[in-house]
Amino acid sequence: MSRKSLNHLRKMKAAKEKIAVLTAYDASFSYALEQAGVDVLLVGDSLGMVIQGQESTVPVTVEQMIYHTANVIRGSDNMFVIADLPFMSYANAQQAIQNAARLMAEGGAQMVKLEGGAVIADTVEELTARGIPVCAHLGLLPQSVHRLGGYFVQGRESEHADALLADAIRLEEAGADMLVLECVPASLAKTITEQLTIPVIGIGAGVDCDGQVLVLYDMLGLTPGKRPRFSHDFLAETGSIQAALSAYVSQVKTAVFPSLEQQF
Ligand code: KIV
Repeated sequence: MSRKSLNHLRKMKAAKEKIAVLTAYDASFSYALEQAGVDVLLVGDSLGMVIQGQESTVPVTVEQMIYHTANVIRGSDNMFVIADLPFMSYANAQQAIQNAARLMAEGGAQMVKLEGGAVIADTVEELTARGIPVCAHLGLLPQSVHRLGGYFVQGRESEHADALLADAIRLEEAGADMLVLECVPASLAKTITEQLTIPVIGIGAGVDCDGQVLVLYDMLGLTPGKRPRFSHDFLAETGSIQAALSAYVSQVKTAVFPSLEQQF
């Protein structure tokens, strides 16, 4: 069976059909997520934290992203697969092109994800002009945690919210095919989702995005320490991994997740 395409995801947005996304890092979970009906897998650089036990995503390398992406690809047949370009692997357009090409050619990813606003717009233009599909990532940028000083909600003040909206529009104009919005007020995420024609996937961004993504280990309650407020322990709720994954897909599709308590 062939994998879902970007076209399929665009049609889902147009039909207002919610897109269920989860992170994955290995073949076994990739298979389980496919069985549960997940639409899109994100091989996130969150693997630095949940697989490697690092304090942030900063130490993750391109080699590691290729290794995990290839494992995820081997585990499933029909989901659309996005892979993160890790910290400083896209500091300039040339580097971004080379590393994105490796994630696609060696890892098998269908799209790459980059963190940042207008500052990465030229790089997004260069990538998409060469046929590399791009997912931009706005709001809380985990690769910038040392500059941000922690993992906080972004865009609460109107000036910052306006800047995020302008960044989102600029990235779509630059050719981005998808946007992840992390930890922003639900009202701002709704505005951005309505203004963009590309699918907008939220994490801690409210129920009105075109789809939702969570870190797999967070939604299974496996991540040590405090779970982010916007996540939910679906394993505790259902009692088995497969039931937890299916409940997530069903609650995203029916806009039950995220609830008001799980948004800002
Ligand atoms: O790396 C990751 O898992 C991500 C999600 C938090 C969206 O970027």
